[in-house]
Amino acid sequence: MTRVRPADLQKGHFEDVLILKVEERRFAVCRTPLGYFVVHDCCPHRRVQLTRWGRLKEPAIVQCTAHGCQFDLKTGERSDSSGQGCLRLDLVHVDTDEDELILEL
Ligand code: FES
Repeated sequence: MTRVRPADLQKGHFEDVLILKVEERRFAVCRTPLGYFVVHDCCPHRRVQLTRWGRLKEPAIVQCTAHGCQFDLKTGERSDSSGQGCLRLDLVHVDTDEDELILEL
């Protein structure tokens, strides 16, 4: 398990998608009105970094602005209508403890 404080994380290209680096691995921490969601920092469409290309849409959708694919942060599934054939986001289970996130990495 890894504990992190969101306030300590570096912002990605878009404000509410934060960067978490753990050793060689990189994650996107998404701050949404429904809480924090953490995914591997990789769009399943063409493998670009979500911390560079991902922006949040309400309530818990991340859109990769490289080609417009949208993903539900609760399930990892693609949520826009043309989503056939695209893999899902690689989700990380996250719990909160006061001002820290507890990640199962
Ligand atoms: S690489 Fe993300 S939508 Fe294409």
